[in-house]
Amino acid sequence: MASTLDVVPATPQRLASLPTWFPTPEALAQWGGSGVRFPLDAVQIDAMLAETQTEPPLRLAFAGVVEHDTAAHAQLVLDWTDGIARLARFAIAPRYRGQGLARPFLTEIFDRLDDIGAFPRLELNVYTFNTPAIALYESLGFEREGVRRSSVRVGDARWDTAIYAIIRER
Ligand SMILES: CC(C)(COP(=O)(O)OP(=O)(O)OC[C@H]1O[C@@H](n2cnc3c(N)ncnc32)[C@H](O)[C@@H]1OP(=O)(O)O)[C@@H](O)C(=O)NCCC(=O)NCCS
Repeated sequence: MASTLDVVPATPQRLASLPTWFPTPEALAQWGGSGVRFPLDAVQIDAMLAETQTEPPLRLAFAGVVEHDTAAHAQLVLDWTDGIARLARFAIAPRYRGQGLARPFLTEIFDRLDDIGAFPRLELNVYTFNTPAIALYESLGFEREGVRRSSVRVGDARWDTAIYAIIRER
């Protein structure tokens, strides 16, 4: 287990190392979908973070920090009309993977979500080949609702997207 992970708002400075986490177009698309251009750069990061500054915020963005080093990043895209929060753009930095940081990081950001409003539906999209992420999400209680087959184009490949959600209010 790595040292203590502090969860803080993401800033351009805290995400400066983020492009290095995704060395190929496929790794970048696995994290950010087909809407992110390879290589990731500060302009694209700033555009994501701009959505955290709207009123109300369209997006929350978090960094998980270990001894001043950014070890984790995730965003929550907020649909205030229907009370839906979508986990997006989540990753553990390569050198911190496999150390048990992912579950406590996500648990903390879901707790932060409760502080800002009522979001009874918590959802996410994950590519069906992403076995580590799927095992993680299922261990947190996310249930698979379906698969959007051949829904994303990455180079010459097309990927299937699984939709997962937790309903937090009955
Ligand atoms: C998915 C990801 C966040 C997991 O991070 P991690 O640091 O390896 O995860 P942890 O060490 O905290 O392990 C948490 C759980 O993840 C799952 N997991 C992690 N690595 C796994 C692997 N190689 N195979 C299967 N399950 C795995 C397990 O459920 C594990 O819990 P367990 O150890 O109790 O079995 C990481 O692989 C990553 O950043 N991948 C690239 C970006 C990405 O794909 N993001 C998700 C987009 S939807």
